[in-house]
Amino acid sequence: MMRMTLRGVPPALGPVCRALARPGLGVCPRPGAPQRALRPLNRPLASIQTPEPAATSFSNDAAAAPAPPHIPVLLEEVLGVFKGAHIPSFFDGTLGAGGHAAAVLESHPELRVLLATDLDAAAHAIAAARLRRAGAAVSRHPNLGSLSPTAAGGGHTTVPGDLTVAAPNKGILAAPADDPEMAIPRPGTAPSAHILHASFLAGPEALWRAGLAGSLGGGLLDLGLSSMQLDAAARGFSFGKDGPLDMRMDGAGALTAEQIVNTWSEDELGRILREYGEERSWRGIARRIVEARCRDGPLLTTSQLASVVGHPGRPSPGRKAGARKATRAKHPATQTFQAIRIAVNGELACLEAALPGLIDALAPGARLAVITFHSLEDRAVKMAFKRAAGELDPGDEEVLPAWLASARRDQAKEQAVVRVVTRRPLVPGEAEVARNPRARSAKLRVVEKL
Ligand SMILES: C[S@@+](CC[C@H](N)C(=O)[O-])C[C@H]1O[C@@H](n2cnc3c(N)ncnc32)[C@H](O)[C@@H]1O
Repeated sequence: MMRMTLRGVPPALGPVCRALARPGLGVCPRPGAPQRALRPLNRPLASIQTPEPAATSFSNDAAAAPAPPHIPVLLEEVLGVFKGAHIPSFFDGTLGAGGHAAAVLESHPELRVLLATDLDAAAHAIAAARLRRAGAAVSRHPNLGSLSPTAAGGGHTTVPGDLTVAAPNKGILAAPADDPEMAIPRPGTAPSAHILHASFLAGPEALWRAGLAGSLGGGLLDLGLSSMQLDAAARGFSFGKDGPLDMRMDGAGALTAEQIVNTWSEDELGRILREYGEERSWRGIARRIVEARCRDGPLLTTSQLASVVGHPGRPSPGRKAGARKATRAKHPATQTFQAIRIAVNGELACLEAALPGLIDALAPGARLAVITFHSLEDRAVKMAFKRAAGELDPGDEEVLPAWLASARRDQAKEQAVVRVVTRRPLVPGEAEVARNPRARSAKLRVVEKL
């Protein structure tokens, strides 16, 4: 039985996720250069909360439903992955506004238990309302510890359809007494949806606590950022909206973009720009960030950082002609913002560490679907799936980036535990991209447990 240790770490983040949080190695290398004090870094979550939508109707009347705060990408394709399958339980590791999860609930009446994680507590109320409209009894759990280990309590009971769920009022179905949102789910009447404030890295342990290890009916990760996060200037994710350099998916996370930009050494900045941004001009951008903070004081806002990197419409210095053409439509700060965001949230390390445990949790024949939005994520998923399918050849390792550490670990092929369903990733059609341009870089990969 898989058991992950997540004790004693910042809420919802495991040690792997924090492995990239490096201490600063010299804020300003030139002696005598001016420095201003940094602002306090850990602003309370309340100050960066995304506004919740206006009162939501709980009726199923589509006309009464509010406009979705986030449009789920590749929705038809995701539903197609699970079409015809019997899914008594489902894990959504990146719940967001709950669009995918609600659609899965609506198309699978046999679904009794939905377990969902999201690092962003600001999205939980929005998702809870969406899941209620899909007919679920929703409970919210502030951390992994609030899911009582069912194994110890002996709260497992097997129900028809091969689903093992915790017995009423035990384990995952126990209501936190002080949660006003929590109506104790009544198995047999409505599916129960459990929203956990945690990384999907904690998914395998949460599923084990729910009595679903090895019997999970299906799972989904829809990586990256939600529209709510991108659109909220105060979250600091977007170079197009002026806001503080934050970029934490979990507002309680310890590391912010401001810290990275103002305290990490030029070498460390260069490394993340190169590895997580695949930025060709990493040397020059890292140097300019350090020069700017030494000359003018700490960089505090997204526009300050964007203007140090380069100006829209003008390619960032150091770009070659070919690269200029290829990236014409992109803001020059795109790769820098991606790199810093990945470092703040330890995204690639989390993904790489979580996938084997999530695959372990699947029942035979059950599928795990993952939607990625850039090549680094897609490569991590492709490699993890190949590895689980026993297809990772030693030769593949040469092309692996440094952060894909576990894929390098041993030379031998692993015994196959899945089959790869999508030899080539599914991508959105023109109509979807026209409707929702944010879907343009999405790729969906799927494995099925043997
Ligand atoms: C693209 S959105 C998901 C949207 C969702 N599928 C929907 O239909 O509304 C990605 C979400 O994943 C969350 N997220 C990203 N990395 C995470 C992680 N390691 N663990 C949990 N949630 C994560 C983000 O906070 C964000 O809300």
